[in-house]
Amino acid sequence: MPAFLILNGPNLNLLGLRQPEVYGRTTLADVEAMCRAHAETLGVDLDFQQSNHEGALVDAIHAARGTKDGLILNAGAYTHTSLALMDAISSAEVPAIELHLSNVHAREEFRHVSYIARVAVGVICGFGPRGYTLAMDALLHHHESRS
Ligand code: DQA
Repeated sequence: MPAFLILNGPNLNLLGLRQPEVYGRTTLADVEAMCRAHAETLGVDLDFQQSNHEGALVDAIHAARGTKDGLILNAGAYTHTSLALMDAISSAEVPAIELHLSNVHAREEFRHVSYIARVAVGVICGFGPRGYTLAMDALLHHHESRS
């Protein structure tokens, strides 16, 4: 059974409360439940985590090396700033999908820059919580096409 890690970065613990006009009213617990149900239908083993700390995210990506078949990363604002997360993905050698709830390209210019996209298989953004299950489908497709 393929093993995937969904990793959420800073401020995503406040999903549902935080700027609902941008991110909606679905909580991260709702997103996790949705992803777990989808993992069952896909036959995927799912690990779902969130941290507000860049180093903890780096550690989680390192732990995925050799243990996970794919990573879905919503790195929040670290997407636009973190060379450390970019290097962690390269070092972990795990196929990664960059994910955002909002369409970052329709927002402020600083959100158009992504260090994660440089090392990702692909990027999904703008579809709200549904983006998580779309990313799972895409990652499984990518995994199956390589194995
Ligand atoms: C986000 C987009 C980022 O620009 C922002 O900093 C976030 C959330 C999204 O899911 O739309 O924290 O990653």
